[in-house]
Amino acid sequence: MLIKTIHNWEIPESRATSEHVFLNRRKFIAAAGFAGIGLASGIRPGLAAEDPTAGLYPGKLNPAYADAGRKVTPEALNITYNNFYEFGTSKRISKAAEALVIRPWEIAFEGEIETPFKMQFDDLIKKVQIEQRVYRHRCVEAWSMTVPWSGFTLKQLVALAKPNANAKYVKFETFNDPEIAPGQKPSLFGGSYPWPYSESVTMEEANNDLAFMVTGAYGKPVAKSMGAPIRLHLPWKYGFKSAKSINKITFTSERPKSFWEVLGPREYGFWANVNPEVAHPRWSQAAERDLETGEKIPTIIYNGYAEQVASLYDGMKDELGTALFK
Ligand code: MTE
Repeated sequence: MLIKTIHNWEIPESRATSEHVFLNRRKFIAAAGFAGIGLASGIRPGLAAEDPTAGLYPGKLNPAYADAGRKVTPEALNITYNNFYEFGTSKRISKAAEALVIRPWEIAFEGEIETPFKMQFDDLIKKVQIEQRVYRHRCVEAWSMTVPWSGFTLKQLVALAKPNANAKYVKFETFNDPEIAPGQKPSLFGGSYPWPYSESVTMEEANNDLAFMVTGAYGKPVAKSMGAPIRLHLPWKYGFKSAKSINKITFTSERPKSFWEVLGPREYGFWANVNPEVAHPRWSQAAERDLETGEKIPTIIYNGYAEQVASLYDGMKDELGTALFK
C-alpha cells in the first residue's frame, strides 16, 4: 500500500509483483539478525520491559488452530517487516513504533450499545479467555506469513459491549497522535490521510469464531510494530482489515467508511476477502510470496478458511458487482 505514485495512497505495482524485500534479501536478513541480537540480550523491539500481562502468554493452544498448514514465520522477520502507516510508509517502522506509549491504554466503547463506556486494556484482558492460535496472514500486497497469535475471540468483546438491536457493524479505530506517530502529522502526505486508521466488519463477521483480538504473539505481549497492545486479526481477509493499536470500538447501524476505502474504494473495498480469482486492479491475487522463503504459493479462497466463513457471503456481490467468492 504505497504512495508517492500518481495518487499518494497507491501501492506501486512493484510492491505487489516483485516485493523489494526479496530483491534486497541480504539487507533483510541483516535486519532480522539485528533483531535476533536484541532477543538474545533480552531486549526486543516492541516489548515493554515490564508488561503486567506478560504472564498470560502464550495461553492455551487452541487445537482447532494449532497448525495453519504452513511453517510459522520467524519472529524476527515478523516484528521488523510491517505495515503501520502511522509510523511511516516503509516496512521498517519497528524502531519508530517504539515511541508508542501502551500504558495506560484506554479503549472507548461507543454507539449502538446498552451504555457507552471506557475500559483500561489491563482490565479488559482480565475479562476474557486468552488462547493461542496459529493463523495465516495474507496482505493485499501479495505476501504472506504465518503467525502464532495469542488473544481472544472478537465475539467475547462483542458480548462484553452489549450491542443493541440497531447494531449492524463494528468499527475499530487506531490511536491518533501526531506527537508520537510521524505519519499522522498534517504536514505529511498533504494531510490527505483520513486518520485515525479505521476498519469495520459486520456483526455476523465479528461473531464468527475466527475473528480474533490479538494481544500477544510468539508467546509474549504483541510487539508495538505489530499493533500493541491490542489489534484485530481476520485471517480470511486481506491484512489491511486488521486494524492495529485499537483504542475505540463503535457499534453502528450504518456501514462506516474505512481508512483505505476512503483512499481507494476500487482497490481496498469493505469486504476484502482473500480471493485468488478477483484481481486487485493493478496486480493479480492468484499467488502470494511467503515472507520467509520468498517462495511463490497459490492463494486460496478465503485464505484457506472457507469452511468457517464461506456461508457468511452466500450469494453476495460487492458494490462493483464482483462476487465475493467463487
Ligand atoms: N493498522 C494501522 N493502524 N495502520 C496500518 O498502517 N496496516 C494494515 C494492518 N493494520 C495498518 C494497520 C496492513 S496493510 C496490514 S498488511 C497489516 O496491518 C500488517 O500487519 P503486520 O505488520 O503485523 O504484518
